[in-house]
Amino acid sequence: MIAFAHEHETLDEARARTLELVLPLDDDAWCAWPDPDFSPIAWHLGHLAFTQASWVLERLLGDDRLSRPFARRYAQDGRPKHERAEGFEREATLRYLDEVRDALRVAWRKLDRRHDLVREGYLVWFLACHEHQHRETIAIVRAATVATTPAPPLAPVEAELAPPRTLEFPTTRVRIGTDAYASYDNERPSLEVEVPAFAIASRPVCVGEWLAFVHDDGYRRDELWCDAGRRWREARGIRRPSSWGDTALATPRGWRPLDPRLPVHGVSAFEADAFARWCGARLPTEDEWELAARSNPQPVDPPTYAPVVARNAHFLGGVWEWTSSAFAARPGFRPFPYRGYSEPWFGDHRVMRGGSFATDPAIATASFRNFYVPETRACFVGLRLAWDR
Ligand code: AVJ
Ligand code: FE
Repeated sequence: MIAFAHEHETLDEARARTLELVLPLDDDAWCAWPDPDFSPIAWHLGHLAFTQASWVLERLLGDDRLSRPFARRYAQDGRPKHERAEGFEREATLRYLDEVRDALRVAWRKLDRRHDLVREGYLVWFLACHEHQHRETIAIVRAATVATTPAPPLAPVEAELAPPRTLEFPTTRVRIGTDAYASYDNERPSLEVEVPAFAIASRPVCVGEWLAFVHDDGYRRDELWCDAGRRWREARGIRRPSSWGDTALATPRGWRPLDPRLPVHGVSAFEADAFARWCGARLPTEDEWELAARSNPQPVDPPTYAPVVARNAHFLGGVWEWTSSAFAARPGFRPFPYRGYSEPWFGDHRVMRGGSFATDPAIATASFRNFYVPETRACFVGLRLAWDR
């Protein structure tokens, strides 16, 4: 028996966190489009309401009044990204969010609890996680907008960075993924895999280490880069992480001083791969990453953008980490609740694991698979080194 009061509480909590992030921002920040790959903040907000209305009101109850008129504006396949802030009005956007929220409060009571989308709390989990994921994207857009402003002359932090420990794993059989009903299609069903012996660092790569890579001409030494990475780097004139100014880091909360102990973020998979080669290491596979994370289950609590503590092996809640694995279907994969969540992205996308300081703890789990094309660098994503054994 599902308590329906609980359902709108879960969504209200997710919404409160979203509003806490966006309400202090002005209209210019809501409409900014600092990175062509990510929609303006205003669009994400409308898209959240539209997605809830589409699944609950339209799909399950046949009422499309709060979805159909908004589809061109807020559906994933509606307007192109560069038009997504056109005609924006703050009050109208907030009103749409409230209207859908109020309609859902009534709707939960009318749903058939045996429906595949509703049972075992699936839909409320799905919609809350949808909001969590878009909230992180909003934070990404915000940080990318900060990065377009002149950085204040902040003095870099002088601090010692302790080296990571090396976690050794012999060849191991491990169960990866999950069978939870409330989980993403791409992490189901769970699967037993054999992971050959490897070693992995106890923490992600930090700013101090990346500075050494920059000073050692890492961005110019072609032998460190794969062909596609070298072409991408030269075409875009890439010389440092996207989050870096000269002496400061762009974050969702503004510029911060460059601190050698912060985990690096704002790098593409190509940069991550070149950095690992410079270290005589490589990126972990996603199976290696999951095995190591399951063996070291302390999350960063609460998730914060803070100096990395080398003592612990933190895998969740600092920065996302690029893996060497292409995003692909696993045996037994079945698209759910719609083809578009995972299937179109199998092949050319790369898996990121872990979760960042902007990731909701509901998302940052050992089995969650995030995915982007390797060129993506605006995310709060860095890397962790791994080695063959
Ligand atoms: C898994 C984060 C790449 O933001 O495009 C949101 C998640 N899917 N709405 C994205 C998603 C549909 C997705 N990522
Ligand atoms: Fe979405």
